[in-house]
Amino acid sequence: MSQYIDDDRQMPRFRVNRNVMTDPEVFAQEKEKIFDTTWLYLGHESELKKPNDFKTRSVGGRPLIFAKDKKGTVRVWVNSCPHRGAMLCREDGGNARFMTCAYHGWSFSTSGDLVSMPGDQAYGPEFERPGLAAPAQVDSYRGFVFVTFNPDAPDLLTHLAGAAEYLDLVSDMSEEGMEVLEGTHHYSVKANWKLLVENSFDGYHAMSTHQRYFEMIVAARGPIDAGASLKNSRSINLGNGHAVTVGGPGSGDIFGRELSAEARAEKEARYERLRAKHGDGWVKRLDGIRNMVIFPNLVIIDLVMGVVIRKIDPVTPDYMEVTAWELAPPEEGPELKRQRLDNFLTFWGPGGLASPDDVEMLESAQRAYASVKELQWSDISRGMHSDVPVQSDEYQMRTFWRQWNEIVTGEVLPPEDYEELPEYWTAPRLDRDADSTVSAS
Ligand code: FES
Ligand code: FE
Repeated sequence: MSQYIDDDRQMPRFRVNRNVMTDPEVFAQEKEKIFDTTWLYLGHESELKKPNDFKTRSVGGRPLIFAKDKKGTVRVWVNSCPHRGAMLCREDGGNARFMTCAYHGWSFSTSGDLVSMPGDQAYGPEFERPGLAAPAQVDSYRGFVFVTFNPDAPDLLTHLAGAAEYLDLVSDMSEEGMEVLEGTHHYSVKANWKLLVENSFDGYHAMSTHQRYFEMIVAARGPIDAGASLKNSRSINLGNGHAVTVGGPGSGDIFGRELSAEARAEKEARYERLRAKHGDGWVKRLDGIRNMVIFPNLVIIDLVMGVVIRKIDPVTPDYMEVTAWELAPPEEGPELKRQRLDNFLTFWGPGGLASPDDVEMLESAQRAYASVKELQWSDISRGMHSDVPVQSDEYQMRTFWRQWNEIVTGEVLPPEDYEELPEYWTAPRLDRDADSTVSAS
């Protein structure tokens, strides 16, 4: 048993030491062994539409520039001037052929070259002009762009393992390629970043934490059988610390507000075309619900009328920053888009029906960890004794924690062993390009 994780297979019981949520030493180790080492989510290619478009964002504690150069190639730069360090871009985003540092006026192209320096004759003819620095590796899968600061990190597809197939499911919802919609949620939480990882695929909390939401749904459309839906679901280990909870057949409609007839008809017509292309089994899966964490900082929630991309940035042991975007099929008509955006704002938004409740729970846990000496362990055993891990169990969290433990302490905890998944959750895409995905471990 490591000092942080108690993984008792006999009882069975799984516990996490609360020190990992509060201890600055643990946080420093996470920074070095996780955030300086593995692949981290940066953004989606669709956020950069034109050459010279750029966005600024923080990943792994670094300020980065996510840009398209003038030839349209995605480039990622460290947002720090090679002269004396000032942040080069101070806006959230924009379009610029040149990025000019506000401090002394050095100017860079979106390809990272230093193109002008005020008074450059003071440097002499032999002076080697420094360009912008970049993360060690940048790669993308189905439009999802990741970076790593580790030149020796294995390639992105190897890192994604079984999660790649779930990025396929999300990406295949559009015939034209999914795109991130304008409008970003930024919020912060006074809690450890791993509490949001747990919460992002915690099916157990839904009914109690989000009671208000379910009351509203029941008032609008009558009783829902959420218990049956949870039972008919799965929690799946995708390898490398990634995990997903997935709803069963027909789960896509249960938790949302009713679609209008017009919106329903449009969705069904698109799914009919996708069925002809990708096969019935794949589209049935695609139409389901899923909450996925791609270790360590990316959450994809494809749950209620839309797909949320959530990026988690740990700042201190008890404070994180969160950014969230909505991913949508560009061909979607106005009624579906209206409902999608309404839901992104009123359910997932920082002032919506879901996120503030979650934030309150996470912050209350973090405040209570002041009593860590008296109450050291959190329990994450739910479902450990059962044959089939479902959405409301905590297998997905244990999957994350075992990877976390292996990276931070070096202790390898074997994965739980469950029987093969039923056909519904394994149906392949019929027209799969052999290279586009890898299978779950
Ligand atoms: Fe950027 Fe001096 S720090 S030009
Ligand atoms: Fe929640």
